[in-house]
Amino acid sequence: MTLVDRPLIQYAIDEARAAGIKEFIFVTSRGKGALEDYFDVAPQLESSLRRKGKTEALQELRKTNMESGQIAYIRQHDPLGLGHAVWCARRLIANEPFAVVLPDDVIAADTPCLQQMVEAYNETGGNMVAAMEVPVEQASAYGLLDIAEANDRVLKVRGMVEKPEPKDAPSNIAVIGRYILTPKILRNLNKKMVGAGGEIQLTDAIAQEVVESDNVHGFRFEGRRYDCGSKAGFLKATVAFGLQREELRDEFTAFLHEITGTRQAAE
Ligand code: G1P
Repeated sequence: MTLVDRPLIQYAIDEARAAGIKEFIFVTSRGKGALEDYFDVAPQLESSLRRKGKTEALQELRKTNMESGQIAYIRQHDPLGLGHAVWCARRLIANEPFAVVLPDDVIAADTPCLQQMVEAYNETGGNMVAAMEVPVEQASAYGLLDIAEANDRVLKVRGMVEKPEPKDAPSNIAVIGRYILTPKILRNLNKKMVGAGGEIQLTDAIAQEVVESDNVHGFRFEGRRYDCGSKAGFLKATVAFGLQREELRDEFTAFLHEITGTRQAAE
C-alpha cells in the first residue's frame, strides 16, 4: 500500500533506521514476493534514471537498497496471529533484544516513535510497548494496558489484555504497533498459547513477562498515529502526509477546500 509516494513498509524501515536498527527481518506470506524485489537493487531502472538525468529519483530509489546480509525474509505459513508471526523469526533473532514494527500503524512525529522508545528503553531496559489513549468503546480492537504507575511518558505495566470487551478493559491505554522486546518473549511464544480470536497473541507472551519478571513498560509516544489497516485511517494518513509535502501542499489544500465546500453546498 502506497502512502503518498512510498509503500507503508518504507515508512516502517525509515523509522527503524532512525532508531539505529541495522538488521531487518520481514515475516511475510504467500504472494508477497514483490517485497523482496522492492528492497533489492534495480539496475535497469537505475541506468534509465541516470540516462534521463533524474538524479533526485535515483537518490530516492537508492534509499530503498539494503546491504546483503542486512535483510532476511521468513514465511509465516499459516496466519495464526501476531505472536506466531514473531515466533516464526525466532532463530534469526536468537538471543538479542529486538524491536517489532507493525507497518499498518503509521506514526507521524518530529522524533520517530521507535527512536523515542529506544531513548526511554536505554533507561528502563526490559520490554517496552508503544502506548496511546483510545476511546474505551474501541477496546476490542487493541491490546490494553493495566497501569501500575505513570512516570511522565513511561508507564509501569502490571497487566495486559488482548482485545477485551469494553466492560473488561483494564484502562483506555492501548498498545500501538511498536515494541522493544527481550528474547525471553520468544520462549514464551514457544508455548503457542491460543488467545483472543483463536490466535497466538504477542500481548499474551508479554503479559507473561509482567507476571514472571515485572519488566514491562508502556511508552506514551509523542506524535499522531494513523491506523492504515482501516479504510478511514488510511485516507486520513494520505491527507495528513500529503499536506506535509511542500510540493503538494498548495494544490492539495485548494482541492480539499473545493471538494468539502462543494459537499457542504450540496447538503
Ligand atoms: C495488534 C496487536 C494489538 C495492538 C494492535 C495495534 O492487533 O495484537 O495488541 O493493540 O496491533 O495496532 P491487530 O491490529 O493486528 O489486530
